[in-house]
Amino acid sequence: MRILVVGSGGREHALVWKISQSKLVDRVFCAPGNAGTAAQAENIDIRADDIARLVEFARAEKIDLTVVGPEVPLTLGIADEFQKYRLGIFAPNKAAAAMEGSKVFSKELMRKYKVPTADFEAFGEPAAACAYIEKIGAPCVVKADGLAAGKGVIVAKTVDEARTAVRQIMQDRVFGAAGNRVVIEECLQGQEASILVLTDSKEVIPLASSQDHKRIFDNDLGPNTGGMGAYSPAPVVTPAIFEEIMKKIVYRAIDGLAKEGIAYRGILYAGVMLTRDGPKTLEFNARFGDPETEAILPRLRSDIVEAMLATAGGNLGKYKKAGGLSWHPRPCICVVCAAGGYPGEYKKGVPIQGLDEAAAMQDIVVFHAGTKRDNGSVVTSGGRVLCVAGCGADIRAARDRTYRAVGKIHFEGMQYRTDIGRHAL
Ligand code: AMP
Ligand code: GLY
Repeated sequence: MRILVVGSGGREHALVWKISQSKLVDRVFCAPGNAGTAAQAENIDIRADDIARLVEFARAEKIDLTVVGPEVPLTLGIADEFQKYRLGIFAPNKAAAAMEGSKVFSKELMRKYKVPTADFEAFGEPAAACAYIEKIGAPCVVKADGLAAGKGVIVAKTVDEARTAVRQIMQDRVFGAAGNRVVIEECLQGQEASILVLTDSKEVIPLASSQDHKRIFDNDLGPNTGGMGAYSPAPVVTPAIFEEIMKKIVYRAIDGLAKEGIAYRGILYAGVMLTRDGPKTLEFNARFGDPETEAILPRLRSDIVEAMLATAGGNLGKYKKAGGLSWHPRPCICVVCAAGGYPGEYKKGVPIQGLDEAAAMQDIVVFHAGTKRDNGSVVTSGGRVLCVAGCGADIRAARDRTYRAVGKIHFEGMQYRTDIGRHAL
């Protein structure tokens, strides 16, 4: 089979790495990819959101299955376009991807189908939004409706801060049309966990649980980022909590979508806050998480392509009966090495040393994120540069090994959190 992976981050390198191990696969392509994906796949110079050219490529190269990493092509309707040409695709269609693409849509779906989530109201007018903020008081959370590259959520400690967020989103239009509407919601307290599931709308198979670390600095300080590291499994998600999340959040959401006439096929990611009143949904994403994927896939024993084909083909029930997914019990930790200055301004084109030494270590995989080849050497090309993943007998062993690997890597300005996995210890 020929597989095309769309995207260029650490998540896509992890997907390419896992897919290329499948016995079903002859050739893997990655569009546009990075210096890491180039080692296991053929990088193709097409942007992840250039759907017309991706369709053209998939048709010309007779791609059997296209696997989509990032959210933008999903919400633009890449799955619908591929299906028009009868091209195999592992991705929810545009209507289903609104679970991530529109916070108003997903919150209203949750309300209608009794999926536990923070209390909220949605607004199309700043004055009404601000009046509601006055009413509920601080802390509260302001969310731009549309996609905002992970920056559209403001957890406001004061009423003033919340009002400023509304003004920036709805009047200054800092996220463009994503700010036509806002959601204002109650601020939840607790530990966060990420629950990703495969679904073809009729059947659901969960992946292993994980926990992301969103803030840039140790001890969850500093601004939010795309994610600075993750580990799997997340021990806070006990079997009982896991059951509850599946029953009250995952099944209700997928069944609710089906009742609305939307068949969800692909990965559904539930970001959950474990509150004193039980698990509540923070958000849904229509894709694999990044960096969660880099901590989850090294633990997956099964052939991921078989599972993806079953999902895309609507045969997940049969796949589950045949055994479903199987996991290595050993935990995995991944640590993101980011460019100096990230998530603000940062330099690009900085040479990276020590990649081979780190990658040669046992039970370590160095996933590339923002990297590219430049005259034979690997240089930085993004904010999150690398994601080093390591497995071990327990979380402590996985952590120690991963940080030993990180210690072998160097580039000017490199920053990383030193406390990934601490919550699990
Ligand atoms: P989201 O993109 O909706 O997951 O929001 C990004 C981050 O903002 C989450 O991972 C949480 O850390 C935080 N967040 C979102 N909604 C809430 C909420 N209602 N209460 C507290 N924190 C929240
Ligand atoms: N790690 C959070 C996300 O992928 O949205």
